[in-house]
Amino acid sequence: MESLLNLLKNEVFLNDDTLITSKTDLKGKITYGNLDFIKYVVYSEKEFLGKPHSIVRHPFMPRAAFKLLWDTIEAKQEFFAFVCNLSKKRQTYWVFTNVTPSYDENGQVIGYYSVRRRASKAGIEAMIEIYKQLLLIEKEHGLDASVKFVLDYLEQNNTTWDKLIIDLQSQGKVGGYR
Ligand SMILES: Cc1cc2nc3c(=O)[nH]c(=O)nc-3n(C[C@H](O)[C@H](O)[C@H](O)COP(=O)(O)O)c2cc1C
Repeated sequence: MESLLNLLKNEVFLNDDTLITSKTDLKGKITYGNLDFIKYVVYSEKEFLGKPHSIVRHPFMPRAAFKLLWDTIEAKQEFFAFVCNLSKKRQTYWVFTNVTPSYDENGQVIGYYSVRRRASKAGIEAMIEIYKQLLLIEKEHGLDASVKFVLDYLEQNNTTWDKLIIDLQSQGKVGGYR
């Protein structure tokens, strides 16, 4: 069986100018992907349009990360995260991502928009450690315990999710360090 470790080792990196964008409907079904999206997911438009965004879900991603994502965007806030994705070729690619609600002219949320850039090395390294713990907690104690771990971690470190993620991404930029 393909191990998680092998999947993580089979990694491709975004270029510094790569901007992967996609749009979804309210349920997370893909309604648009730009050229960089097509390049990294490897699926064709025909294959991904109308599919759930979980088409690129990586087994290393803990469920708590997506719970935080959906709770945040459904509360009409923007969400930041380091996400590792899996392409059709079963290659891993890490991204620094930002997801925002999209509105119609009446102020109704009509879908979601996501922009992804190359993730900093500092961010990937930190999140690998956190996600490993979350996966273990989810296996043994379930999703609520995993979300609680994140919230406790933020409190103990006197930070917020956004601050943690944005700090980690900007750390990577110091001195051109990726
Ligand atoms: C705009 C938008 C972009 C998303 N991008 C990704 C993504 O790149 N990778 C991913 O695994 N999930 C992404 N998601 C989250 C998925 O909708 C889904 O919650 C996640 O893949 C977990 O799926 P599962 O609970 O069915 O396993 C995105 C959601 C939205 C709204």
